[in-house]
Amino acid sequence: MFETSANRENSNAEKYQARERLFRTKDVLPLWVADMDIDTPTFVLDAVKKRLEHPILGYEEMPNSAFQAQINWMKKHHGLELKREEMFFSPSVLTSLNLAIQAFSNEGDEILIQTPVYPAFSSSIRNNKRTVLENPLKENNGDYSFDFEDLKEKISPKTKLLILCSPHNPVGRVWRKEELLKLAEICLKHNIKIIADEIHCDLAFTKHTPFASLSKEIAGQTITLLSPAKTFNLSGMSISTICIINEQMRKIFTSHYKAIHVGEGNTLSYVAFEAAYSHGETWVNELKKHLQENIDELDFLLREKHSKIKFKKPEATFLLWLDCRALNLNDNALNQHFIAAKVGLNTGHSFGTGGTGFMRLNIGVSKDIFKKVSKNILII
Ligand SMILES: Cc1ncc(COP(=O)(O)O)c(C=O)c1O
Repeated sequence: MFETSANRENSNAEKYQARERLFRTKDVLPLWVADMDIDTPTFVLDAVKKRLEHPILGYEEMPNSAFQAQINWMKKHHGLELKREEMFFSPSVLTSLNLAIQAFSNEGDEILIQTPVYPAFSSSIRNNKRTVLENPLKENNGDYSFDFEDLKEKISPKTKLLILCSPHNPVGRVWRKEELLKLAEICLKHNIKIIADEIHCDLAFTKHTPFASLSKEIAGQTITLLSPAKTFNLSGMSISTICIINEQMRKIFTSHYKAIHVGEGNTLSYVAFEAAYSHGETWVNELKKHLQENIDELDFLLREKHSKIKFKKPEATFLLWLDCRALNLNDNALNQHFIAAKVGLNTGHSFGTGGTGFMRLNIGVSKDIFKKVSKNILII
């Protein structure tokens, strides 16, 4: 399993198509955008093929059976209790994030993010004319943690939301229950709602704690964003969900949601979603083993070579946060250095404060591609 994967060179894959624009050359292995060079599982593809046996692709609502498949999955794998009426379809987590920002804050309000973090958090805040309030993570020799003292100092009456990345992209942390409880306590005290982006939760190698599972009170302040896209490599299907347990908050959210007619999605995505959550358990376990093998092997090779590039093994995801500070290069030169080795990565500084000197590498690839990746990275 995962020895090889389909060739995406001449498909519409964004990762490949945008290489020339981003790296000024096509001659790089594209290891940036967070989807995998791993085939989407057969049980998902089969469900899509079966749906195509019916020759009409008209308007469709997301079926309750699909929501139920995700509800069962979240309960079984993460202990999160959800009900159908608490959930909304959304074409993407970023659509959900923007809707939640609009529904639960006003222009000029402050929204907390914990950098270095997925860049679309800050751009979504700015695009909605809210203010980014950075609460950078603390870093100690590759270990990352929340900075509660900084958080408490920075909160003002204008601070309305915190966007939590859990597990965290790019630093790979799976936040422990105790850390999340401490964070929740501060947010509850200051009446700050939490948008918990848990898109990476199924790729946690250690126990993931959904923020909304911490307590009833916390669930009542939380908007959880979920998606099968990263786990089952189906980002092109445009499907995800938003979960809001608090009924009052749901009412507020619904008016924004209805206003932009985003409630109905893609006919094929519904069956892909349901198949993934209904039949995905064994596949995900195998995938996690494979990703950990890639991680372990690269770690071994870099150490063996006494490379100046270091990384802390992530607790989740196929994204490695490479510490390249020992190379002593500025951000642009660092990027060029990787391009010269024929690998195209995300630059660390694009993840905000704390990102300078780092690069994000996507090792969500089949074994054959991984061999090329490690060979090229070792040149650096
Ligand atoms: C933390 C996080 N949130 C959201 C997204 C994007 O999700 P979507 O494509 O559903 O908008 C990504 C993609 O990399 C991500 O890492």
